[in-house]
Amino acid sequence: MSRHVLVTGGASGIGLALARRFAQAGDRVILADLNDTAGETMAAELGGSYRHLDVTEEASVEAVVAAIEDGVGPIDVLINSAGLLQNAAQTENFPLEEHDRIWAVNYRGSYLMCRACAPRMAARGAGAILNIASINSFTPLPLPAYTPTKAAIGSLTGVLAGEFGPKGVRINAVAPGFTLTPAMQSRIDSGDRDPAGMEGLSTLGRLVKPEEVAAAGFFLCSDAASAITGVNLPVDCGYMAAISYNTYPS
Ligand code: NAI
Repeated sequence: MSRHVLVTGGASGIGLALARRFAQAGDRVILADLNDTAGETMAAELGGSYRHLDVTEEASVEAVVAAIEDGVGPIDVLINSAGLLQNAAQTENFPLEEHDRIWAVNYRGSYLMCRACAPRMAARGAGAILNIASINSFTPLPLPAYTPTKAAIGSLTGVLAGEFGPKGVRINAVAPGFTLTPAMQSRIDSGDRDPAGMEGLSTLGRLVKPEEVAAAGFFLCSDAASAITGVNLPVDCGYMAAISYNTYPS
């Protein structure tokens, strides 16, 4: 059955790959993003629709969710992929404004979207939500805003799974490793990230592809995962395994 799938951050990267995966399965995708030009273009390519959305603004979130629910149909699946990456920084030199903006988009944005959609799904007794966490959910990296937001998203996923599970709503997360998206590519191009260094940290020796994150996320939102809720699934080319395995003191 064709589902309505709302994808925040759907104009680019992991969100776009997820939207493409659902569209391939015959679902009706609604991309929502700040980037209207890319969002409109990609929605047209996927045979879906586009909404302007700022996930940090409660009014914007409520307006978009209400307009879809009232005018298009029930949101069966919500994907929270709007997010900001961060370059390595030390706390004392890291601008508080940037810290707060990363929290606003990554955590508050995911929270506001879940807050708007989960009760509506619960009222219908069905729905699936996918949050995009990170390997940062599990391990401290030198990203003093980004890392805690992703730990918090992992925690939020479990909290909401507990709250909404009895009402038929499943809420899971994926935890991508270093993934070659436009956001990552621009950091490689500017010299802020070293692709060989990132590749060498995973046991498979390469970066994750956005479509690999999409495949896992699609599974978690499908009936094939009907008994799975509250998990944060690494899709990391074995980064988590390698960082432990390779630090064994001989
Ligand atoms: P991206 O920059 O390619 O895509 C992010 C999208 O979010 C963009 O289209 C952007 O316009 C949109 N966006 C930003 N702020 C927004 C706002 N306030 N409201 C609505 N839309 C907004 O980035 P990428 O790499 O695809 O990241 C997507 C998610 O995946 C993020 O949550 C990121 O933290 C997460 N992630 C990415 C990894 C990577 O290595 N690229 C690894 C682990 C997690």
